[in-house]
Amino acid sequence: MRTHPSAGIPVGGAVLAALLAVGPSSLNGQELEAVAGSAPSEGQRVVLVTGSTGGLGREVARRLASGGDHVIVHGRSVQRGSELVAEIEEQGSGSASFYSADLGSFDEVRALSRAVLRDYERLDVLVNNAGIWLEGPRQLSVDGHELHFQVNYLSGFLLTRELLPLLRRSAPARIVNVSSVAQRPIDFDDVMLEEGYSDGRAYAQSKLAQVMFTFDLATELEGSGLTVNALHPATMMDTDMVLERGARARTSVDEGTEAVLHLVNAPDLGSGGYFNQMTPAQGNAQAHDEAARVRLRALAERLTGGG
Ligand SMILES: NC(=O)c1ccc[n+]([C@@H]2O[C@H](COP(=O)([O-])OP(=O)(O)OC[C@H]3O[C@@H](n4cnc5c(N)ncnc54)[C@H](OP(=O)(O)O)[C@@H]3O)[C@@H](O)[C@H]2O)c1
Repeated sequence: MRTHPSAGIPVGGAVLAALLAVGPSSLNGQELEAVAGSAPSEGQRVVLVTGSTGGLGREVARRLASGGDHVIVHGRSVQRGSELVAEIEEQGSGSASFYSADLGSFDEVRALSRAVLRDYERLDVLVNNAGIWLEGPRQLSVDGHELHFQVNYLSGFLLTRELLPLLRRSAPARIVNVSSVAQRPIDFDDVMLEEGYSDGRAYAQSKLAQVMFTFDLATELEGSGLTVNALHPATMMDTDMVLERGARARTSVDEGTEAVLHLVNAPDLGSGGYFNQMTPAQGNAQAHDEAARVRLRALAERLTGGG
């Protein structure tokens, strides 16, 4: 295992404060530096969980690390990411590092994938968990795309494609796409929702796009030892996504965590599945329309430049 560039820095207490003061995990020119705890040891599983500075992703990261994994923590908040690395390192069963990257920017997604390819020799599991469901008017990313579509789908598509060579080399390996039961068909004449925008529609089309990506990628990966599945983790969990809207939580983050961990750990799950929590399920009909999937993939390749 190649040594992590910042490996061995004990991230805790005064050291964590110092790292925060100098602004760790920031884009230095074009290169992203990590807040590093300790490097993965020989044989330790390496798992990247996007959006693990809060909510479902943070609980998934905690549980994986307590089971002995090396977790690559990701999100925008340096404070929360660094704190989670410190917590995991202090707990002692697993290890962690943190990279800050905004999935609303393709440049930052590419910087994240470059940093992971630079710093790690293997990646056993990629959990595309980061997601948004925003109130208020339609917003565009810095790249000019409807923000839910970019953060929830396009950036996960790009990150996955950039990391595929490393995942393939690490096979048997897994990709888990955290989607939702909230799925609405994509209108290919108005993907960016210039007409008839609502946050619910924007969220739901981006979540269906993740399922379509899952089915499409599974076909491409047949025989590679690399599997990909998607899931609805749980309905209205007690996370910021739900609570900051003033909505009432109906389930706990622990329930969603169990469902994600099932796709990460359970043997013989196969590939190309969509699960409602732990139960195999059907996605929206558009996910089963091969022509629509081909069209979506072509669009994502054109918009991200990643193929
Ligand atoms: N909550 C539910 O009931 C529910 C139901 C079905 C599916 N889901 C799915 O589960 C996943 C996690 O949701 P959650 O409820 O845990 O949400 P959350 O509490 O809002 O957490 C979202 C995570 O994503 C990160 N994130 C948000 N925007 C980002 C960006 N632009 N760039 C990079 N990271 C970003 C956040 O970290 P930073 O703020 O540090 O960037 C945070 O770590 C999402 O994909 C969601 O669609 C949730």
